[in-house]
Amino acid sequence: MTFSSTLLTKLKSSERVVVFTGAGISAESGVPTFRGEDGIWIKFKPEELANFDAFMKNTELVWEWYKHRKRIIQNILPNAGHFAIVEMETYFKSVSVITQNIDNLHRRAGSKIVYELHGNIERNYCIGCGKNYSNEEIFLQETAPRCTSCKGLIRPDVVWFGENLPTDEWNASVRAAEFADIIFVVGTSAVVYPAASLPTLARRAGAFVVEINIEPTELSRYADEVLIGKAGEVLLRVVELVKNL
Ligand code: OAD
Repeated sequence: MTFSSTLLTKLKSSERVVVFTGAGISAESGVPTFRGEDGIWIKFKPEELANFDAFMKNTELVWEWYKHRKRIIQNILPNAGHFAIVEMETYFKSVSVITQNIDNLHRRAGSKIVYELHGNIERNYCIGCGKNYSNEEIFLQETAPRCTSCKGLIRPDVVWFGENLPTDEWNASVRAAEFADIIFVVGTSAVVYPAASLPTLARRAGAFVVEINIEPTELSRYADEVLIGKAGEVLLRVVELVKNL
């Protein structure tokens, strides 16, 4: 893989770095992506599983599916890509991770600033009174879990289709994108909005856009540099490069 001289210059002068991630960064940890050949949305229908109406109509089915995903995610580990992003913190003034992933792997790897745009599968809350529940508490109930205080339905703290993104995380992400010198867009098909608007927002505000993906995406034509390859491998190369600047 070759890096352009412009990228080298940008890396040298950059202070504020944003890393915007999608399912592809967790693929090497064993978490399936959403789209593509083995994508979750090829096998399951988002309209049956990932929206509030479906949850109210097919509560047991939706919970069965989320418990299954919670178990998968509980048993995996952050990979080289997640750790390379943590290491970037040594070389730049600030590194903000904006993720569409709900798997908590950036935090588990040790990234300090993480904005989770689509929630976090390790959290749950009661739709009646808002009380929070851990996954351990959820697994204690065999059927769709109910709140121990108000008997309301508990739901996973993830953003479903048709729902708004968490306001604080979104506002902080927009600010980070606007102030970024360089933004790495890693392992996302960049088709789910509003999250997918952040790389172009950053670009309009002056950031250098570097895409890392195993194949070109909707975003590629707007990127200043496209690095084709697995997130873990490419990010390690980038960190090596930065270390030796
Ligand atoms: P997608 O499944 O749409 O895209 C995953 C991207 O990762 C694709 O562009 C792949 O080419 C790329 N990819 C796969 N393996 C890779 C690897 N090892 N290294 C680098 N890239 C790799 O996932 P997202 O873009 O994250 O939303 O999907 C966005 C949103 O759609 C998700 O957050 C989820 C989903 O519906 C909600 O649940 C609200």
